[in-house]
Amino acid sequence: MASFIDDLAQENEAGATEFPFMPEGQAVDMGTAPDGTPLFDPRIFDTPEFFRNPYPYYRILRDHYPVYHDKLHNCYWVTRYEDISECYFDDEGFNTIPKGSSSGVLGNTQLELSGVEHRRRRNLYGQHLVGKSLQLRVPSIQRLAREMIGAWDDMAAAGSEYVVDRDGVRTVELGHAFANEFPIRVVCEVLGFPKEAQSDFYYWYNSMMSGLGGSETHKQGLEARQHLEDYVAGIVEARRKEPTFLYDEEGNPISKDIITKLCESRVDGDYLSTEEITSNIALIVGGGGETTRGAIMNLWCLLLRHPEQFEAVLNDEENWDRAFHEMLRHSSSIGGQPRHNSFDIEMHGVHVPAGSLMNMVDFSANHDERIFKEPERFNIFRDDLYYGKLLRSGYRSEGRCNHMAFGVGPHLCPGAWISHQETVEGSKILAETMRNVRICEERMPRDIDGVKPAPMGIISVRDLWLEFDLER
Ligand code: HEM
Repeated sequence: MASFIDDLAQENEAGATEFPFMPEGQAVDMGTAPDGTPLFDPRIFDTPEFFRNPYPYYRILRDHYPVYHDKLHNCYWVTRYEDISECYFDDEGFNTIPKGSSSGVLGNTQLELSGVEHRRRRNLYGQHLVGKSLQLRVPSIQRLAREMIGAWDDMAAAGSEYVVDRDGVRTVELGHAFANEFPIRVVCEVLGFPKEAQSDFYYWYNSMMSGLGGSETHKQGLEARQHLEDYVAGIVEARRKEPTFLYDEEGNPISKDIITKLCESRVDGDYLSTEEITSNIALIVGGGGETTRGAIMNLWCLLLRHPEQFEAVLNDEENWDRAFHEMLRHSSSIGGQPRHNSFDIEMHGVHVPAGSLMNMVDFSANHDERIFKEPERFNIFRDDLYYGKLLRSGYRSEGRCNHMAFGVGPHLCPGAWISHQETVEGSKILAETMRNVRICEERMPRDIDGVKPAPMGIISVRDLWLEFDLER
């Protein structure tokens, strides 16, 4: 099996970089200014070295260039927690338009709106992803997790390469066996997407996601979006006449599903167009699929690599919440968000002309040692991280701060609570099922020394091979 590092090396040969791989946590020496300040070469951002070992580079930026003017990529990188937080709250000064190639695939979404327009869109369905409505749906999230995990016996019997039984030990690849599809199934239910169309939906979702990067797959992403829109066009009228509902496990209606809400909603007296409804659906699934997949994978990888913390979670279920938030601080599945400054500004002595692209690096905020001690250490018991309910206003009190993985301010992720629930409830059921679970290290990629596990870096874990004892 080709390792992670082999893949990177191939990219190297293609001429992507001249920077060497460094031991994790140590930056390539890019030279020093006469006053001793480390120099920073923006070509590093495009290298495999940066993708596997980003944190020492962000540290240089935070310490020496907190607003870094990157002339190569024509943008500014903002890397300190305090600055990013301030920009996120200032919706007027740092607006969210436009996001570039994602627009074509996701469509015209609230991600790209600001102010009143943005609030109107958010209010259309926001209440479905929080509070009582979400609480009542915990049993159905648990049911979906049990269904998927319950299918492992059949997968093993059918000779699946992702669930294999041998000598009383089961080996699973957590992504293919669970995490890749579980968040999509949950969101499909909350949306009220008809069961018979769910496998099409999964295909459209995958095609749209792989089309987001403006790459060769962009065309396929646009086609998938069109198919989704055609499908949605066919159900809008029916939902307006006959709304569909979400039910609790006893069959009592909880509320109308999100698609019905979108079909019935009016903005300034007009129904939303099919295009707008599709864009909302695409954003909800697009925002909630890959992100929560990454959260589940990273959580399991980090916990199993820190067995004493895993033990603490197994001994006290309350610790799942701590583990979820510390995982997102340590290794979130989203690197950051672009903003455009509406006015000419001066930040840390750097002049930023109005309309510039300013990249807010959430990854770096989460590793800012001005806020989090020993930020590279995964520690679910840290005393500087806030583990409670996420607030749009953020949280800072008694030396604890929220992590930045869900953003803060007006665009704070509306899926934060449901992704928390999916990850924690799904993980509890995984933990019940997988007795004496451990990482199957020989199937995992190695670091450059050929011995240590490959670092997570900027991407979330792709494949996580686990093994556990089968009950006899
Ligand atoms: C661990 C999982 C997740 C992470 C790390 C995450 C992260 C984020 C972040 C950082 C933003 C802010 C974007 C900005 O400031 O411009 C965001 C927005 C958003 N997320 Fe999530 N998300 C996750 C799960 C979900 C889920 C499960 C859903 C849907 C069910 C979702 C739906 C959205 C939507 C609709 C927005 C746009 C909000 C707005 O612009 O007002 N996300 N997410």
